[in-house]
Amino acid sequence: MNYPCGIRALRFESDNPNKSDVSAFGSSCAEKTLAFHKSFPEYSVTPLAKLENLARELKVGGIYVKDESYRFGLNAFKVLGGSYAIGCYIASHLGMEEMSFDSLVSEETKAKLGGITFVTATDGNHGRGVAWTANRLGQKSVVYMPKGTAKERLDNILALGSDASITDMVYDDAVRLSQKMAEEKGWVVVQDTSWDGYEEIPHKIMEGYVTMAAEAKEQLGEVKPTHIFLQAGVGSMAAAICAYFVSVCGEDKPIITVLEPTTADCFYKTALANDGALHAAEGDMNSMMAGLCCGEVCPLAWEILRDYGEFFVTVPDYVAANGMRSLAKPLGADSAVISGESGASTFGFVAELLSNPELAELKKAMGIDENSHILCFSTEGDTDRENYRRIVCG
Ligand SMILES: Cc1ncc(COP(=O)(O)O)c(C=O)c1O
Repeated sequence: MNYPCGIRALRFESDNPNKSDVSAFGSSCAEKTLAFHKSFPEYSVTPLAKLENLARELKVGGIYVKDESYRFGLNAFKVLGGSYAIGCYIASHLGMEEMSFDSLVSEETKAKLGGITFVTATDGNHGRGVAWTANRLGQKSVVYMPKGTAKERLDNILALGSDASITDMVYDDAVRLSQKMAEEKGWVVVQDTSWDGYEEIPHKIMEGYVTMAAEAKEQLGEVKPTHIFLQAGVGSMAAAICAYFVSVCGEDKPIITVLEPTTADCFYKTALANDGALHAAEGDMNSMMAGLCCGEVCPLAWEILRDYGEFFVTVPDYVAANGMRSLAKPLGADSAVISGESGASTFGFVAELLSNPELAELKKAMGIDENSHILCFSTEGDTDRENYRRIVCG
């Protein structure tokens, strides 16, 4: 359905009789990833903003926003995946029994390991997480970024000692470049999307994201989220969070909505076609939601979101911009959240859904009412400060 406000939405029902097994992302996964992330000196649980005034105003039971701008001092959630995958890679390479920050930086590990170069393609946040982890563990990283990347995002990665550069390619071609360079140079690809024969590391990356979901569940206490809105680039984050909640909530599973920018609508297209094939977005994917500008879905992620995602939506940039502004200046005593373009996209959509009469039918179809408890993840802070200032203060 195309709404005059520029939003598109579809309800999806999987015709797959054998739903994918998501137990690998359940509570025992959360235990492992939390223990690993807690072993870093930089770890602290990120805040969950409970927007009570806004929930009252918009007539729902609760609106909760997990604020990942506090993650490891890196302003985004992404490091959770890269760090866990790199940790698992090193531990399995050396046959280590214990995997913690201390064991990974020990002299013994360094001596056995020698030097490794980790390579990745990124629109910013994932590459920063990989570069940060390589740096903390005394290893090297190479990072390829798509054309149009904000210089601040490149500088943040260079500052971590990475050999980072902005290419003249779109994201998906930069991914192929990192794969090709790894083959030529013997580097290790740490990519947050899978392809045929490359599944182990993306799976570990997705497991790493479970830390964020498990923290949110703990912070919600007795409150069970009825609706979760997840933004997707390649979809690894959305799939991991969805898989965790399906696994731990069982029959009480929240309704999952997957959101993308209008211009980078690979999940929307794939769900719309529902023909068993994956459909790519076309063109240069211009959107300020840089983290979501991925043209090709991660096949591992699609298997999960196909089976457990109920709604797929696409939104124009103004939705994210409104989200950034209202999170920055909340109602009454609600907590403010500094949220960047991709980070604020789902919250911006929720605010539009609950207040725009054009979307009343969609809200009803999603089963949202005064008893609903809505969870969003603000997956990044102001990772492009110039654009953040232009939108929020301009
Ligand atoms: C801030 C932010 N949010 C969400 C995403 C989407 O994650 P995924 O590519 O796993 O779908 C990204 C991806 O880079 C991101 O940077």
